[in-house]
Amino acid sequence: MQATPPTRQIDGARFREVLGSYPTGVAIVTCTDEHGAPAGMVIGTFTSVSLDPPLIGYLPMKTSRTFARMRGSPTFCVNILAADQEAVCQHFASPAEDKFAGLAWHASPAGNPVLDGVVAWIDCDYASVTEVGDHYIVLGGVLGMQLERDTAPLLFFQRGYGRFSPGPLVAAAERETIEAVQLAEIGRDEMEAVATELNAECSIIAAVGGDVVYVAVENQSPYFRLRSRLGFRVPCAPPLGPLFVGSPGAPGDDEWLKRLGRPDQETIASALAQLERVRSRGWSIALQGAGEDENLDEMVALYSNPHRTPGQERRLLAAAKARAGLHEPAELLDHVSYDVRHLSVPVRDAGGQVLLVLRLSALPPAADLDRIRQWLARLQLSAARLEQTIAARREHCRAARLHA
Ligand SMILES: Cc1cc2nc3c(=O)[nH]c(=O)nc-3n(C[C@H](O)[C@H](O)[C@H](O)COP(=O)(O)O)c2cc1C
Repeated sequence: MQATPPTRQIDGARFREVLGSYPTGVAIVTCTDEHGAPAGMVIGTFTSVSLDPPLIGYLPMKTSRTFARMRGSPTFCVNILAADQEAVCQHFASPAEDKFAGLAWHASPAGNPVLDGVVAWIDCDYASVTEVGDHYIVLGGVLGMQLERDTAPLLFFQRGYGRFSPGPLVAAAERETIEAVQLAEIGRDEMEAVATELNAECSIIAAVGGDVVYVAVENQSPYFRLRSRLGFRVPCAPPLGPLFVGSPGAPGDDEWLKRLGRPDQETIASALAQLERVRSRGWSIALQGAGEDENLDEMVALYSNPHRTPGQERRLLAAAKARAGLHEPAELLDHVSYDVRHLSVPVRDAGGQVLLVLRLSALPPAADLDRIRQWLARLQLSAARLEQTIAARREHCRAARLHA
């Protein structure tokens, strides 16, 4: 097949510069050639084409010797490279004689190489090959496909490699995090005292860049946790982080709801009712769900990784939404026992803004309301002391600045 494009005069360097301002992913198209040897070439032009029928496409140069070799095979496999596979890409793009030497791979169901560590692979046969200018457009009919790794892909932009970074707020939030850690340091004694007295995990959390981050943790709970929550973060989105909503570093009421995407009316109504309950009570409670908590901890750990993927973020938000009924129950009854996951109280500045939250976790199960009230009172005592200490330090700093 041949398509004849119109002839126009565009400077080649300019063409590359302008088109290079559009980022692409990076894939390696592989096959087993007619002599049974593995072959592969790097492509940035891979794209999804059609769902029905399932077609993908890419554009090899007409001069590519590798592509000429690949035509000898009835099928090929698109390997989507992960962000940590830049070296694999460089190796395939180099003039190296044996591109597969020293690399681990296995055969796909269609018999094409799948490189270890790729994000995904797609086995295809040739639906069509069309000559266009100095390239071919290859349409591949999808035979099989598989996600291999839940990780970010390698990106190519302005002739350089990079990776997707989640959210525009991550870098800006560094300074906020340091400030929050410094503030939490002032509360270390209170946090440790609460953890020791109640044989529980006590932590200090702060709102940073729209997330809620554990900035200090002391665990004295016999209810063993494998991993410390220190540095863990969750999105400040319903039902999470209600104590922070409207304070610096955290979203306002509307943004808090919007982080759920397009929630239905019922979700909005129950999230707002929870927010209202937390504000009128002045504290926050989350109950333990049956059996899913380890899974949730794992999702939180993935979200806390600065290289998290949008998929990992969506899955955590969905899991949080699914267990929203365990947060801020409308009624807590006498003579009923509760498995409490978290109990949280705010630490405010003189203007009433929430600076930090003091949180109890890893508590003994089956607590009655009296017990919960005792925990709460102890937590509130420490929060009040911490508020006084922070206010006194701030006053001291202000006075020192006036004298300077
Ligand atoms: C990030 C990146 C993207 C590339 N994308 C393409 C592409 O879409 N089509 C293509 O023909 N070559 C592409 N190349 C170049 C080929 O990988 C490589 O130059 C070609 O396989 C070498 O030619 P040969 O097959 O004759 O050895 C790309 C190279 C890199 C580093």
